[in-house]
Amino acid sequence: MVVVVVVSLCFQLFLLVNLAAPPLILSISVTTSNFSRHDFPLPPHFVFGSGTSAYQVEGAAFEDGRASSIWDTFAHADKTQISANDSATGDIACDSYHKYKEDIQLMVETGLEAYRFSISWPRLIPNGRGAVNPKGLKYYNNLINELIRHGIQPHATLVHYDLPQALEDEYGGCLSPKFVKDFMAYAEVCFREFGDRVLYWTTFNEVNVFVLGGYDVGITPPNRCSFPFGINCSKGNSSSEPYIVAHNILLAHASAANLYKNKYQGRQRGFIGINVFAYWYIPSTNATEDLIATQRANDFYIGWIINPLVFGDYPKIVKKNAGSRIPEFTKVESKLVKGSFDFLGVNHYNTLYIKDKPSSLKINNRDFNADMAVDIILSNDTPPDEFPITPSGLLGVLEYFKQFYGNPSIYSHEDGQQTQRNSTLHDSARVKYLHGFIGSLLDAVRNGSNARGYFTWSFLDVYELLGGYGSCFGLYYVDLDDKDLKRYPKLSAHWYSNFLKGRSSIEVENISALSHQSHFSQ
Ligand code: NOJ
Repeated sequence: MVVVVVVSLCFQLFLLVNLAAPPLILSISVTTSNFSRHDFPLPPHFVFGSGTSAYQVEGAAFEDGRASSIWDTFAHADKTQISANDSATGDIACDSYHKYKEDIQLMVETGLEAYRFSISWPRLIPNGRGAVNPKGLKYYNNLINELIRHGIQPHATLVHYDLPQALEDEYGGCLSPKFVKDFMAYAEVCFREFGDRVLYWTTFNEVNVFVLGGYDVGITPPNRCSFPFGINCSKGNSSSEPYIVAHNILLAHASAANLYKNKYQGRQRGFIGINVFAYWYIPSTNATEDLIATQRANDFYIGWIINPLVFGDYPKIVKKNAGSRIPEFTKVESKLVKGSFDFLGVNHYNTLYIKDKPSSLKINNRDFNADMAVDIILSNDTPPDEFPITPSGLLGVLEYFKQFYGNPSIYSHEDGQQTQRNSTLHDSARVKYLHGFIGSLLDAVRNGSNARGYFTWSFLDVYELLGGYGSCFGLYYVDLDDKDLKRYPKLSAHWYSNFLKGRSSIEVENISALSHQSHFSQ
């Protein structure tokens, strides 16, 4: 079949005896380039959609009782040293808070089967706990009802980087174990108020990136780090805080999932999961140390979050290298966390090469990256501002989850190409990317992956975490110079729409004709 698993017997034995790890998937290639929507299972077994998140798309940051999130604070701070787009904020973003009906109309025209969005905790519960904001409640009810009315399946994320600033100020947010109780209470408001219509719940978006960006290198909210791992933070401890925060988030996730399963799932018949970011890692050479380093990189980057959920504990190598800096699960916690999901969400964009770096373990003052002890190498054909197009990475990641974690249900929650925002509506790089990655997804499904859905990132050109309004991923361009923030379909919107409507995928070279078709209102 498509996936070739090449591992020498000796090496397998070495791994089994020494690391108790499964065989590495070393060589993978995508074979499918011409396909259609009909080649995939149909909804509800498999859905195609697109996504955004609250802070990146809603705007209306100071309206109707919404309070600040840690992302508002970060966006408004002086970030000259860490971001080229210092002054960009999500204050207005795409103004979807007011334009959600128009946006859902575009989703209908595009043919989306599902929409992945996030709920802004500080819009719904401005103080982080306590009183629910009726206007926030009304907005999400309207959004969900409008999606359902048009037959678009809502997939809601509870936290997409935008934790309430109030809880950060009060007790340090998810650095404190107090966070677990407040997250559960927020999640319960969402299950109770929206769970009759929202059947797909993701507790946290890309936990690993949130933790490393926010608490190790400090380049994302809440901007905590310590020297020499991060250079522009006033507070933090890069060596220990990432492990503590990930631990608290796992406990918060598991507590909310447990609540959902015991109190709501029987009646509401929905599903709950969590999301991680996954690179596809390839050993930079065939040397045994690089093969082992590649497995170690997966254990750190993915296993750190997913092993506790599947096996009830952190990977051995993570515990060994992090030592006393990583908290231990008690027996009760381990039982709570293990199995606390119906599906796993994966954000995957690109492939990296891994080289062993044993010297990093010789340093006493280490952070997560030093504990991982690898050098990460980018492919050298990376175009500026775009991802190199390596579709086999998605197949590799899905195959890895299948082989390593017993083939859980997976949603490919984010995948997409980055381009310069004001470059062109003729985004052939994005078309080529989607074409390749959806082909890769089909190979994975045919190879037995339990993938259940695929969402392009992003539906609109939203406010980007690091790039502000300089770079974008959207199927639709949003004209920021127009007072109405008019949306325009890009070539990729036409391509995806054609695919969703059952036409066979078309070679990139022949696709320009699509942009002249008239099935969009603009
Ligand atoms: C992942 C994040 O979830 C999303 O917020 C971000 O915009 C995309 N990656 C692209 O950077």
